[in-house]
Order: sequence, then C-alpha cells, then structure tokens
Amino acid sequence: MATPAVPGPAGPRGAVGPGEGLPAVFVTRPIPDAARARLERSAQVDVFDGADAPTPAELVSRCRGVVGLLASSADRVDGALLDACPRITVVSNLAVGYDNVDVPAMTRRNVPVGNTPGVLTDATADLAFALVLATARRVVEARDAVLAGRWKSWDPGFMLGMELSGSTLGILGAGRIGRAVARRALGFGMRVVAWSRSARAPLGPGLEAVELVEFDGLFETSDVVSVHVALAPSTVHLVGVRELALMKRSAILVNTARGAVVDQAALVEALRTGSIGGAGLDVTEVEPIPLGDPLLSFANCVVLPHIGSATTVTRVAMAELAVDNLLAGLRGEVLPACVNPEVYGTAR
Ligand code: GLV
Repeated sequence: MATPAVPGPAGPRGAVGPGEGLPAVFVTRPIPDAARARLERSAQVDVFDGADAPTPAELVSRCRGVVGLLASSADRVDGALLDACPRITVVSNLAVGYDNVDVPAMTRRNVPVGNTPGVLTDATADLAFALVLATARRVVEARDAVLAGRWKSWDPGFMLGMELSGSTLGILGAGRIGRAVARRALGFGMRVVAWSRSARAPLGPGLEAVELVEFDGLFETSDVVSVHVALAPSTVHLVGVRELALMKRSAILVNTARGAVVDQAALVEALRTGSIGGAGLDVTEVEPIPLGDPLLSFANCVVLPHIGSATTVTRVAMAELAVDNLLAGLRGEVLPACVNPEVYGTAR
C-alpha cells in the first residue's frame, strides 16, 4: 500500500531544516527494504507499486507537493515535471546513466541530480561479458536447439562459434565499465583495444596491454565490439550504418550501455544481410522491445531485458547510494554522487 504523498515544509527549491517535520518524497520503483527503511526514518515516503514504471501523468500527479524524487531510468525527469511540481529540491536517479534526466533543466532550477556510479561496475561488466560469451559461443542458439530436439549426436561441425582466446575485443568508451570489461577479456586471453575521447594509456593497473586505437580502427580490427559510452546528444547512433560496415563479417556487437547509441535499424539490416556475425544487446532503442521487433527474429542476436546491474548485491548498493543522494539533497548538503555539481556554485 503506497503511503500518500504529504507536502513537505520546504518552499520552492528550499532545503528542509531540522525540526521542520519530515519532507515528502516519491520513489518511482520499489527499492530494497533496508534502503527504504532508512529513507522512511527521515522522510514521508510514497513508493509507486504499479507493475510498470509510472506514466508521465502518474509521475506528475504523485510528485505534486514532494520535495525529493527518487527516479529510475524509465522515468522522464524534465523541466516540465519540475514546473508542475515546483517543490522538488533534489532528484536522485537509481542508475549510473542519467539520459532520462534533462540535467540542464535541473541545473537552471538549482536542483542537484544524483546517480549511482561505481557500485554497479562489476555487475554490468559481468553481464557484458556474459553477452560476449553467449554470442561468441552461441549459447542461446544451442539451448534452443536442445529444446527443439535438434541435438542428434556429437557432431564436430555443430554450433561452431568464435574462439575468444586470441580474438580481439574492442572497447568503445573506456570509462569504469569499459575498463572492467577489458580486465575480464584479458583474463580470457583476448587482445584488447579501446577507443576513448578522453582516456590516455595506460588505462589503469593491469590494463597496460590495452591499446588505444582510432575510432574507425576499433571497428575494423575487433572481433567483438563492446559499447560503453554514455548516451548524450553526441553519442546518439554513434554506431550506425558506417561503423557496422567497417566491422568484420564475423564480428559481434555487444551493447550494455544505452540502446540509442546504436542505430537499431542499421543493426537489423547488418544482421539481415550477414554483414556482421551477431549481436548481444542488454539495451534497445525502445524498452521493453516490442515482441514483433525484427531484432528478435535473428538466431545470432541475443536480447536481454536491461539487466546489466541486476544482482541482489548491486541493487542493494545502488539503492543505498540513491538514498544517500536523496537525503543529502533534502538536508541541503552536497550529494555524494552529483552529476551537476555546478548547482553548488550558484545561489540556491
Ligand atoms: C543502468 O542502465 C544504469 O545506468 O545504471
């Protein structure tokens, strides 16, 4: 049963001071119990308990009067929402990515935005590598063959895939998660190359063997390209017709970042014509992906339901950090993980 939202005592964009009563916050998805209990000690908490994320209209109606919003990447948090809900003082996003938040609009209104970096790096890198293995070794296809009764005998030519050891993994975007995937790939005996706008070699301890390459070179030389750039205007369709055409016919594309970094129509065409060898996607341009989407028709394309950070340990850590951010914002303190720290340089 959702707790009704109670208007907080703070004025527009004002922080809540001690003794003024508990501020109202809206949490758009259920979060782990310990984090929720900690939040409830300091706030009037309304948790959305629908089966899906709130619709934009539900988001506005549940945010009226609240001073804090704990959102997920399924929620669009923009200037219109803040204009309709002018008491909101802080937005805490339960994700490392924050492309669902119009950060400039938040900054203009002096609203700090928190995210959850670091705590989900290993879980997401593991999932990226699971997709590398699943596509390279045709794991899902092979399981489907067993279930369909197509496993007839041990056949030396059956379900042949890509040998990872000795193959080249290309990391597109050498941030925390990209580097964690590189570590895993080195452990599998792969050669690892990386492209980054800002990183310099070496990429960190244990990553001395990773070679930084030019953008086109990454697509041309890799047997597996793994996408790890954040979604921003400059990275929409960063992987499109041109980049897919540069890839080897046997190469695999893995995306655990954001769907819109890859031009999905171009990817469908590349899979249809066989100009690349396969794809492993945890993210798609529209989520959830519609059941009739052509991507779901390819045996060499594995699509997962955006579960990169979905381990119990990681989701607990994400919720704790998201609650830390929210509580700091409610107290008028600097968020521990803030994506627009410039708000602290201006009068609040
Ligand atoms: C998940 O996609 C995240 O950005 O944390």
